[in-house]
Amino acid sequence: MKKLILILAGALSGGVLSAQTETKVDFAKQIQPILEHSCVKCHGPEKQKGKLRLDSKEAALKGGKGGPAFKPGKADESEMYRRILLPATDDDRMPNEGDALTKAQTDLIRDWINQGAVWPEVAVAKDSPPKVKIGLDKLTAAPASPAEQKAIAKLESLGMAARPIAQKVDWREANLGLQGTNVTDATLAILKDIANLVQLNLRGTKITDAGLANLKGLSNLLELHLENTAVTDAGLANLKNLTNLTYLNVFGTAVTDAGLEHLKGLTDLRNLYLWQTKTTSNGVAALQKALPNLRIDTGWDLSSLPKPEEKKEEKKEEPKK
Ligand code: HEC
Repeated sequence: MKKLILILAGALSGGVLSAQTETKVDFAKQIQPILEHSCVKCHGPEKQKGKLRLDSKEAALKGGKGGPAFKPGKADESEMYRRILLPATDDDRMPNEGDALTKAQTDLIRDWINQGAVWPEVAVAKDSPPKVKIGLDKLTAAPASPAEQKAIAKLESLGMAARPIAQKVDWREANLGLQGTNVTDATLAILKDIANLVQLNLRGTKITDAGLANLKGLSNLLELHLENTAVTDAGLANLKNLTNLTYLNVFGTAVTDAGLEHLKGLTDLRNLYLWQTKTTSNGVAALQKALPNLRIDTGWDLSSLPKPEEKKEEKKEEPKK
């Protein structure tokens, strides 16, 4: 472990020197969403193509069949960077199906590697919910009903869990994020009976708008993660009455300003994450007006992101400022 830290530290100082002109890349905000959206389904808990996982620092550093996926400080010698730049016709291109990464995304990955490939431990794509739930004090728990008990048992039989958030409490949390295709609308139909559910993480799962209708009655929900799912505005309409919600994350979804309209009645909402959505500054401003106490995080400057149509543009060097 000590050796690893030394290697990382060395690479970091080298990388920073050669990357003085770039702004520091934020792994959690800028790199992790790309990996989760475009890579983890084949290089994560479900599948490990090429024996490679990209959902934790440790695994990514170990690399796959061909060795480490990246060399901190040296993007040009990193297998991962080489592969994302290949043309779609090349079998080695990553992701090896679907849309290529945009130029903005490959540049971010290049800068991140050149800056030492910093992967903060806290940002590892594991679900570690905060211990204290904001807003819990305003709720009243009730012992699990027979329907709730049945639903909990059903989830367990599927290898999933809605665990108590602490010892001797009825409140439950379900961290189903990154379980990929195992979690679908059918899973949500089970969750519907878990009235004591206060936190639900569906990040990167295969749920849809229709499935979210199952959450309508879960009025104790405080925290909901829908990032990197197929959820759209229609799905958010199902959340209208979840007025205890304090945290909502929809980053990497196709949500637009119309979807934000459905959130205007959620007066207890304190944190909303909109990175990489289709919302605009107008929509965000309108929501902020309706919910002045809400902290809206749109990630980095959205206007600097390339539009999807620009994906196919040929690579031309940006003139250095
Ligand atoms: C649809 C599935 C799929 C997706 C999505 C995908 N990969 Fe892969 N990846 C593969 C397969 C299959 C292999 C092994 C075959 C090969 O060597 O080309 C592989 C191999 C690799 C390797 C070489 C591993 C080794 O040591 O041999 C790297 C690095 C890699 N992928 C990076 C990425 C990155 C970065 C992304 C996201 C931008 C990504 N992949 C997305 C399927 C995928």
